[in-house]
Amino acid sequence: AEGLHAPTFPFQHASTFGTFDHASIRRGYQVFREVCAACHNTDFVRWRDLINVAFTEEEVKAMAAEYEYEAGPDDAGEMFMRPGTPADPLPKVYANEQAARAMNNGALPPDLSLITKARHNGANYVFSLLTGYYDPPAGVEVREGLHFNPYFPGGAIAMAQSLYDGLVEYEDGTPATASQMAKDVVTFLNWASEPELDDRKRRGTQVLIVFSILSAIAIFLKRNRFISLK
Ligand code: HEM
Repeated sequence: AEGLHAPTFPFQHASTFGTFDHASIRRGYQVFREVCAACHNTDFVRWRDLINVAFTEEEVKAMAAEYEYEAGPDDAGEMFMRPGTPADPLPKVYANEQAARAMNNGALPPDLSLITKARHNGANYVFSLLTGYYDPPAGVEVREGLHFNPYFPGGAIAMAQSLYDGLVEYEDGTPATASQMAKDVVTFLNWASEPELDDRKRRGTQVLIVFSILSAIAIFLKRNRFISLK
């Protein structure tokens, strides 16, 4: 069965000329790091992608250096590790699908790098999913290990509710309600899926302006210069 269709939420970046809310991307990264990154890979995001998007270069260098990456085997064949750099991808939770399923009762947490593009109505769907955990209605049985969520196709999802009011503490003082965290993490994930959105919207606006001016000139010339030829 299809899941319940998510309503349209007023994400700033979803409006015609709207670009990303970067303070929200920054808070969303924090939610992702402290909550979602325990279970979900984001293979296509590199640390450096966050520079000047949500963090300064210095901040990103320090964040990457907190994680260790394989640097290759030494002479004795032992793997040695080095601190991360901005060129590294965000740390992996699982090496492969088998490992991921083994740690999640057989369910596979999808890589979230492209999730808002991979799912229909992406940002609205993920927001609804994260805030859409309810007691099952009377007469609905949910299998052991699954959780009722009307937005998930089939209505029962292996991922438990993960956002609760006050779960994280935002450095900018924004109250961390469950829906605020959902909004922020979805903005972060939407940025990960479409990092070019801001440029695309700005370029689109410039194109509209330039073509409006060119059209005005063309109409003016047509009316004025060619009138004698009629
Ligand atoms: C599935 C997002 C936290 C485990 C999913 C899906 C999304 C998602 C979008 C895919 C639903 C679909 O296939 O349409 C998030 C976000 C999180 C978060 C944004 C943080 C706020 C977690 C945590 C865990 C987890 C902490 C593990 C404890 C799973 C699993 C699935 C899943 C096992 C697969 C569910 C199934 O196929 O039934 N998550 N997740 N997630 N997530 Fe999460």
